[in-house]
Amino acid sequence: MGEKVTITYQDKTIDLPVIFGSEGEVAVDITRLRAETGIITLDPGYANTGSCTSSITFMDGEKGILRYRGIPVEELAKHATFKETAYLLINGEPPCQAELNRFSILLNDHSLVHEDMQSFYQNFPRQSHPMGILSGMVNALRFFYPELQTLEEEINITVTRLLAKIRTMAAMSYKISQGHKVVYPRPDLAYCANFLNMMFDSPVRPYVIDEDVVNALRVFWILHADHEQNCSTSAVRLVGSARVNLYASISAGISALWGPLHGGANQAVIEMLRSIESGGYTIDQAVRRAKDRNDSFRLMGFGHRVYKTYDPRAKIMKKMCDKLLAKLNIKDPLLDLAKELEEKALSDDYFVDHHLYPNVDFYSGIVLRAIGIPTNMFTVMFAIGRLPGWIAQWKESADDPNWRIARPRQIYTGPPKTNFVSIDQR
Ligand code: ACO
Repeated sequence: MGEKVTITYQDKTIDLPVIFGSEGEVAVDITRLRAETGIITLDPGYANTGSCTSSITFMDGEKGILRYRGIPVEELAKHATFKETAYLLINGEPPCQAELNRFSILLNDHSLVHEDMQSFYQNFPRQSHPMGILSGMVNALRFFYPELQTLEEEINITVTRLLAKIRTMAAMSYKISQGHKVVYPRPDLAYCANFLNMMFDSPVRPYVIDEDVVNALRVFWILHADHEQNCSTSAVRLVGSARVNLYASISAGISALWGPLHGGANQAVIEMLRSIESGGYTIDQAVRRAKDRNDSFRLMGFGHRVYKTYDPRAKIMKKMCDKLLAKLNIKDPLLDLAKELEEKALSDDYFVDHHLYPNVDFYSGIVLRAIGIPTNMFTVMFAIGRLPGWIAQWKESADDPNWRIARPRQIYTGPPKTNFVSIDQR
């Protein structure tokens, strides 16, 4: 018999099995807890709750490790394309040449967006945030591409459609927000270059593809491609658990990612650095405010639920930031401010004691600025990168033989049973 944890509550004792992950993580399986003892567990924010078993991504927050299907993210960032990384996450293994060719053809074939969708874009109010638009449009894809005959066909085609169209839809929303003509995808361009061309090509200034910029985008997307059971991925799994279609589940993930405590932090970091640059507050004031429990201000791009050391993605991003800006001969004052802020925070006892380090979002905004992406599109860039991970996680949960609708419990703290008294009798 394997290891167990024994829980005794009042006159009931239960032995719960201990289960181990392939990297030695340990969990107590509490599936039988309520049925046999009447008690549940309470874990606000699910900080100690494993919502599933998963073979997609491994991370160790204490050691700063991140691997997709066992492969360190550092290796993928060095050697893989984003397309290969997406294939790896979704299918479990890196593609062979024939599989990659087929995947590329499918992505090209599905890269156009239904022309009627343009009218949707045109009718969003001008100031709409691109994340809200993207979430709405991804959900709307279902109406343009109704359910297919077989479940397998439905899943495979929907997955390819999403991966192919999200680039086009994101670039389209930018072009339309600028009042410019939409640029169509080009089959001769690879995934990252194709997106950049759709974003920035124009009849008056044809976009010249720069390999350093393409490479920066490739690394950015690979670093964001999956991160196990984070807020948006959990949203995708939770919504998907009700057996709604994949578009709706991904749309929920996009909405969750939008939040400034999650993917929206990349935009919030730049806004914070801009406030410092414009004299709104100094770096010392920012650090002081972040430490003040009575002030809701936080250092954006700092801290992480899982990483208690430097986020491995932030390490790569910081290096890439220096390299890219040097290559493009850009002097971004925000980079200097970010480095100064990081140095001040990391030498402050509060941040050391709280294990608060820069996360992936701290330097990513500066990389995106150098590429030419407008600030309000930063989180959309994150969403495009995260899409393969969301899809892989959705597929894994859909294929799980133990799949059940996600339905947490609660501890009710409201009033006891109270009778209704009508207004005239009160
Ligand atoms: N600045 C100052 N203090 C912080 C910060 C921060 N950025 N992050 C956490 N803390 C402090 C909290 O005040 C708390 O202090 P206390 O224990 O003395 O009360 C302690 O650290 C733990 O904070 P929690 O909020 O409980 O940590 P949690 O794991 O719930 O939150 C989160 C993690 C949301 C990322 C948080 O660190 C944060 O708000 N960071 C800023 C936003 C950000 O950068 N988000 C991007 C995360 S990466 C991603 O999602 C892609």
